[in-house]
Amino acid sequence: MCGIVGYLGSKKAYPILVKGLKRLEYRGYDSAGVALLNGNGIEIYKKEGKVVQMESIVPAEDSLATLGIGHTRWATHGAPSDRNSHPHYSQSKRIAIIHNGIIENYASIKEGLSKRGYTFQSDTDTEVLVNLIEDILIHADVSLAEAVRVALNQVVGAYAIAVIEEGNPDQIVVAKKGSPLVIGVGEGEYFIASDATPFIEYTKQAVYLNEEEVALISLEKGLEIRTIANELKRPYVQELAIEIESIEKGGYDHFMLKEINEQPKSIFDTLRGRLLVNQGTIRLGSLDEYEQKFLTADRIIIVACGTSWHAGLVAEYLIEDLTRIPVEVEYASEFRYRNPIITEKDIVIAVSQSGETADTLSAIKLAKAKGATIFGICNVVGSSIAREAHVGAYTHAGPEIGVASTKAFTAQVTVFITMALSLGRKRGTISEQEFRRLILELDTLPKKVEETLKLDAQSKKIAAAYKDVPNCLFLGRGINFPVALEGALKLKEISYIHAEGYPAAEMKHGPIALIDEDMPTVVIATKTEHYEKVVSNIQEIKARDGKIIAIVNEGDVDVTRIADHVIEVPEVDERLSPLLTTIPLQLISYHIAVMRGCHVDQPRNLAKSVTVE
Ligand code: M6R
Repeated sequence: MCGIVGYLGSKKAYPILVKGLKRLEYRGYDSAGVALLNGNGIEIYKKEGKVVQMESIVPAEDSLATLGIGHTRWATHGAPSDRNSHPHYSQSKRIAIIHNGIIENYASIKEGLSKRGYTFQSDTDTEVLVNLIEDILIHADVSLAEAVRVALNQVVGAYAIAVIEEGNPDQIVVAKKGSPLVIGVGEGEYFIASDATPFIEYTKQAVYLNEEEVALISLEKGLEIRTIANELKRPYVQELAIEIESIEKGGYDHFMLKEINEQPKSIFDTLRGRLLVNQGTIRLGSLDEYEQKFLTADRIIIVACGTSWHAGLVAEYLIEDLTRIPVEVEYASEFRYRNPIITEKDIVIAVSQSGETADTLSAIKLAKAKGATIFGICNVVGSSIAREAHVGAYTHAGPEIGVASTKAFTAQVTVFITMALSLGRKRGTISEQEFRRLILELDTLPKKVEETLKLDAQSKKIAAAYKDVPNCLFLGRGINFPVALEGALKLKEISYIHAEGYPAAEMKHGPIALIDEDMPTVVIATKTEHYEKVVSNIQEIKARDGKIIAIVNEGDVDVTRIADHVIEVPEVDERLSPLLTTIPLQLISYHIAVMRGCHVDQPRNLAKSVTVE
């Protein structure tokens, strides 16, 4: 978590840092700060709260500096407060640091530094690291870059750091392990950031640091990269494909609403070049490359967190049904710590929008070490999970900035649909006729999502009726059970209403005790083989005075007769239906959160990219 940004060049650093920090606020937003290097040394301004609060304390004269670093925080060590905010000075104020990650052995390092006379102004692990660097600078009499490299050899944990030094106005030293860091290379200027969005309007040339690399960024010497083992590396400069429009709100009130509305395009983009209807096929280069592995796999294990885990659950239904390969879906955080049995015949699929989720990254490192083939499904190109995987398929959803994941989920499901169909065909577990029928139907999905988005006004009315409830249940069966889980997650994370998702048939085993006239239940009741059973589940709730909001297919009769509200989505094959049934749930949650005055794009206590375990 946390966003870091830096600038070195001839422009004023401060406005670039502030704009960059606002773009990175999705990574954490409990405090923000900048360090600016000017004639008087390093000046730090930092404040609890969002970037906008920090802006109010920066005096105009300091905003002239042409070198600076900035940070927006999601607290790990130390509560959100002014003093725990980044940047942090070293004891002598000679150097300043920003840090995204966790130094796990900070306590023992701190103890050693304390014995050598260091005192600490904050509760953070980061302040320990900056003092360790200063200690090495002073006692080993080396350059800043060398001191950083030596210090990082003593550190256990994760970091993306940027360090600046008084009297060195032409350099920033950065390093990375386990947290993302990208360097933007402009004409006579450099940028650093957690992702490329802070500098995309200035340069599209970027260098992604690899694990355990330290870079000296100098206006005079250019870019010098070494591993922490002191091996010199050649910087690999790549051209970024992101456009500035894709990271702006484009007239929407919130990124979340923009991203919900982008789903016809993001699904289309994810299918582009893969779904070849005219040729009657699906082409997934990565699957073809690892065809033998997939054809002979004993099982597929899907590891992910949050919404991506829900996409994994949808995939379990798809892959088992269409390919007959057994699938297990695991919370990455649990998988990693239960000594799982993994063999070389296992395929482990990691699903992650950000590609940086620490639990998921650790899970695939473990599985890789045990010989499994790792397949990554990520949205962020060049992210750590994408690079750690042997092979993978990107979701082409475009930047997702709202903390609540929406278009990334449907893009992940889209990738899984193409994988399951393609694999099923290769394994002969789906007939050619069925394959052709499904790809034709899949081709219509972007259009059907567009139609489904027209349900916005209706979703808003339902939101108005239920915005004040304290609890809400979400039910679904089969492939729409994970959609119910996803609906509940969306509601709770952005509106702070307690919500639970259940398989509809599980109600009678406990949750039905919660039903009364104050408990609304959102039921996905589209036409599937479970339809009649879901109708019975709805009857059971109605018999106990519960309120029903049902997602049904156009022209539905049975549920419509008994539900309090219905939302009609177009009819599609059940296996493709999550791409449609998800949409009204996203819209209802969005409108409820707005009506409750919640900060939709940056819900409390959350961050978009969870890079701590
Ligand atoms: O970047 P990832 O897909 O790995 O993130 C996983 C979860 O942190 C994420 O889906 C989270 O649950 C979202 N807030 C859900 O909206």
